[in-house]
Amino acid sequence: MSKKKTMKCELDLFSEILHAYPSEGDRGLSNASLYERIADRAQLSPEDLNARAPVGESKQPVNLLKRRIRWFQQTLKHAGILERVDGERGVWKLTNPAGDGLRKINPGVSVLGFSTKLGLAILGSCDTVFSRLDTPIHLCVTSPPYPLASQRAYGNPNEGDFVDWLCRSIEPVVKNLVNGGSICLNIGNDIFISGSPARSLYQERLLLALHDRLGLSLMDRLVWHNPSKPPGPVQWASLNRVQLNVAWEPVYWLTNNPNAVRSDNRRVLQEHTERHLNFIRNGGIKARSSASDGAYIKRIGAYSTETLGRIPRNVLTFGHACQDQRNYKQFAKNVGLPAHGAAMPLSLASFLIEFLSRPDDLVVDPFGGSFSTAKAAEQLGRRWLSTECMIEYVLGASVRFKEFDGFGLSLNG
Ligand SMILES: C[S@@+](CC[C@H](N)C(=O)[O-])C[C@H]1O[C@@H](n2cnc3c(N)ncnc32)[C@H](O)[C@@H]1O
Repeated sequence: MSKKKTMKCELDLFSEILHAYPSEGDRGLSNASLYERIADRAQLSPEDLNARAPVGESKQPVNLLKRRIRWFQQTLKHAGILERVDGERGVWKLTNPAGDGLRKINPGVSVLGFSTKLGLAILGSCDTVFSRLDTPIHLCVTSPPYPLASQRAYGNPNEGDFVDWLCRSIEPVVKNLVNGGSICLNIGNDIFISGSPARSLYQERLLLALHDRLGLSLMDRLVWHNPSKPPGPVQWASLNRVQLNVAWEPVYWLTNNPNAVRSDNRRVLQEHTERHLNFIRNGGIKARSSASDGAYIKRIGAYSTETLGRIPRNVLTFGHACQDQRNYKQFAKNVGLPAHGAAMPLSLASFLIEFLSRPDDLVVDPFGGSFSTAKAAEQLGRRWLSTECMIEYVLGASVRFKEFDGFGLSLNG
């Protein structure tokens, strides 16, 4: 069987197990019913379901499918997602049955989700994982849940708690940051005062707190211009007509030491246009001129030396859809897992990682989601570590890594 096929089967199986348990009320499911349900969905015959194969030196016949299912149950139990029903042998239930198809790992617990030669995807809350970590981090590229008035599927802190919550969440990352390491935070722009078209000032409060509480310096408020952003805010732009449609979000770039910062724009130079190359090759500026009361002076011959490329401007234009995201979403759908609804474009994560870190550096993302930062880091030869607290997202994202060296899905033991 090809690696791809095996991988899909494993995920199919996990997805089936996760979603077989009743998500309402306090009911459990016996293992016998679970096996039957999975066999039914996978169109396995009773012989397939009960097939045994010799295992180990003793060649003891073992039912490998049921063993895999039980192993996964143990992982879910360890993660605090499943528990045994008291007094009933082989009957399990969800610890927190209410939900919309997402199961959150218990605070304080973490489990390896999948890994490659370069990175680790951990199912766990970021504060739990990073507070136990003692490894130098070179860069953090992340997008926390925004303080939206209407909650996303994965939940989010409210606006009043956001600054404190985020500072506490990323403090362990900042503590492990190397001298001159960077933190990039993509946060929401469209947080409005309740019932008002005025925007919240939480971004300003956040920046001050990151400086005052965590000692970070602001390098830039990068603009992520997203030309494919859907129109909004609907209430204030489309209906009341007092606002404009939004086309960008901020990416705050901070560092613990601006004088030792590891960024280098030579890693992200863009190609000169043909027109600009002609201008350079024709000797650059031809006539001296001065503008803005002499603030800008153009001297004859300026811009006549050919350079390796154009230094990017700090407005980063990337649409949010890409083939990689589309593949991931389709795959998640195929195996019955919810696809992440707020993924960062791979191109944005790649740009930031290339600009702000060097090959072999450690890049982290505490709020992994669909693991875009991790994927970009992997492609660029950086080591990576990402955490995500929802098991479905970790499982679904694993497909984005299956081609990489050393890939292994660990939730099946
Ligand atoms: C805005 S999304 C991140 C999207 C991600 N940048 C991507 O490209 O897919 C935020 C994610 O953080 C996760 N999350 C929220 N609180 C968390 C925590 N304490 N630890 C780990 N993950 C958390 C949510 O489940 C959600 O998937």
